[in-house]
Amino acid sequence: MRFGIAVLPGDGIGPEVTTEGIKVLQAVGDRFGHHFDLHYGVVGGVAIDETGEALSPDTLRMCRGCDAVLLGAVGGPKWDDPKADVHPEDGLLALRKGLELFANLRPVKVFSALVDGTNLKPEVIKGVDLIFVRELTGGLYFARPKKQWRTSKGRRATDSMTYSEQEIERIVRVGFELARGRGKRLVSVDKANVLQSSRLWRQVAVEVADKYPDVELEHMLVDACAMRLIQNPTYFDVLVTENMFGDILTDEASMLAGSMGMLSSASLAGVPGEGTDTFGMYEPIHGSAPRRAGLDMANPIASILSVAMMLRYSFGLIKEAQSIECAVDEVLQRGYRTYDIMSEGKTKVGTKEMGDLIAGKVEG
Ligand code: IPM
Ligand code: MG
Repeated sequence: MRFGIAVLPGDGIGPEVTTEGIKVLQAVGDRFGHHFDLHYGVVGGVAIDETGEALSPDTLRMCRGCDAVLLGAVGGPKWDDPKADVHPEDGLLALRKGLELFANLRPVKVFSALVDGTNLKPEVIKGVDLIFVRELTGGLYFARPKKQWRTSKGRRATDSMTYSEQEIERIVRVGFELARGRGKRLVSVDKANVLQSSRLWRQVAVEVADKYPDVELEHMLVDACAMRLIQNPTYFDVLVTENMFGDILTDEASMLAGSMGMLSSASLAGVPGEGTDTFGMYEPIHGSAPRRAGLDMANPIASILSVAMMLRYSFGLIKEAQSIECAVDEVLQRGYRTYDIMSEGKTKVGTKEMGDLIAGKVEG
């Protein structure tokens, strides 16, 4: 089969990890007989430098013309001035909104080879296999108004959290669909003891639950959820939550997998499993790590696993996706580690070598 992919490497370590993701994608193409047409574009700080905008209309159009988007990371100290008119992150938000990628899937799975390699007790994290469904185009991130202003008593600023029932319904449905294909347990995370938007969220979740009698729905307050994730992470199967809560909880949850460098994500424009393959954007959950850029140090596994998610959700290539996940597992079993997941007695490798090792293990 033939697929068109927009590749937006972005800033910092983005280009390095994306190169390895593409290397593994090409290995899949060779072994399984698929062809991937790559269309490169700029987003984030590099786009600001080139065009004055974090995402140009041309790049957005190019993405729309493809079957999926692979993104590296955006941001860096060069573009950090809070007073600047445009920030690299604006490019990412414009992609999410412009491509209507409302459903952000962030799986957190602990590879058995890494169970001893984290700050947490092995018995607590062994067997963790959960997935977050984060709402991605609403809430505080896209608040209206979103501004700072001066008053006679000093400066003020606002971003308020707004959700419509339609926005809640479609994201909660993604949670139920995923839960149906997995452990049949969905935790809906909110702050319904304080926020009106969360009370609506909870009501809509209960209404949607009617259509999924086979899935058990539980509501959990976001603060309690933050605690539970560390205390007893194997408790969770699928979690669904609004944009900002999901942003924070997924960084927390990444520590269960040993490093941010291990976590991939899919941002989808539809409910997976409904209709045909869904358009999506795939990216590591980590940032651009400017201090590590250009040193051949960064862990490319998040980008490589993001490619696997692309094969699974946008192209319906399940066997191919599994071949990548197995290759990652095997390379870790053999003791290869980038600096962020390094532990005593293991073999330290750089970004490129990790990519080569994984690409070499992809089997058709
Ligand atoms: C993420 C990131 C982004 C977000 C930033 C870079 C805007 O932290 O994808 O989790 O907050 O959504
Ligand atoms: Mg984040």
